Amino acid sequence: VSRNHAARFYDQLADDYHLVYADWDASTARQGESLNRLIRAGLGADRPVSVLDCSCGIGTQAIGLALRGHHVTGSDISPVAVGRAAREAGRRGLRLPVAAADMRRLPFGAARFDVVVCADNSLPHLLTETDVRTALAAMRRTLRDGGLLVISTRPYDEILRSRPVTTLPQLTGRAITFQVWHWHDDGRHYDVELFRLLPEDDGNADGWRVRVGRATYWALTQDELTGLVSEAGFAEPAWHTPESSGFFQPVLTARTYA
Ligand SMILES: C[S@@+](CC[C@H](N)C(=O)[O-])C[C@H]1O[C@@H](n2cnc3c(N)ncnc32)[C@H](O)[C@@H]1O
Repeated sequence: VSRNHAARFYDQLADDYHLVYADWDASTARQGESLNRLIRAGLGADRPVSVLDCSCGIGTQAIGLALRGHHVTGSDISPVAVGRAAREAGRRGLRLPVAAADMRRLPFGAARFDVVVCADNSLPHLLTETDVRTALAAMRRTLRDGGLLVISTRPYDEILRSRPVTTLPQLTGRAITFQVWHWHDDGRHYDVELFRLLPEDDGNADGWRVRVGRATYWALTQDELTGLVSEAGFAEPAWHTPESSGFFQPVLTARTYA
């Protein structure tokens, strides 16, 4: 899948992206709170820090962290998504500078940030070890020495045991979203069809609009990602379960060498 493929998928989804959550505002606050705890523990600092969210989308984690007082910059390969992130932040009185950028080529100075976040299964949009290595090197470069990397992915160790073919429907108001997963023959990559069912606005209860977006993912295991992160020059890689972190996905944290 090319860079443009993911960008197009999320460009088309940006206006509706909050529908993948029952209550996007509540999720934003909750995710910001759990990531804030991980950042404080990871850096051993109880103060606002500078954060790059390099796959910020419409800003779920970036806005959540800004709400906790951090100085957040957002970037994402989807220009439409970062545009909405900036608008959503502005509406809440928060400062969130944004840029449209591929996480493999981050347009920020070296050692600019205390923390780089790449959350909610964004990294698995990269389909090869080479692409993941390139992205991790770009994140390493933008982090100061002694900085913190924070990556969350779907729980692929568990997922690879059953290779599910659908997700449960999410209801937001009357809108319904769910995913259908098509596994490749290699058993490690899958194409997602994201269905959005939206009621027609004309009052006709039988009228629904259906939108489908497609993207491809690499189901990389926690050991595989830990290995790639270590090779990219990060120390102390550690996975945090949802039970321990309060974040809805497993989170990998690692430090750059001081
Ligand atoms: C599941 S969304 C999560 C977005 C955001 N973190 C959130 O939770 O609202 C995955 C994001 O990864 C972004 N993405 C995919 N490939 C990317 C790349 N190569 N560089 C930067 N962002 C990318 C997509 O545009 C999308 O916004």
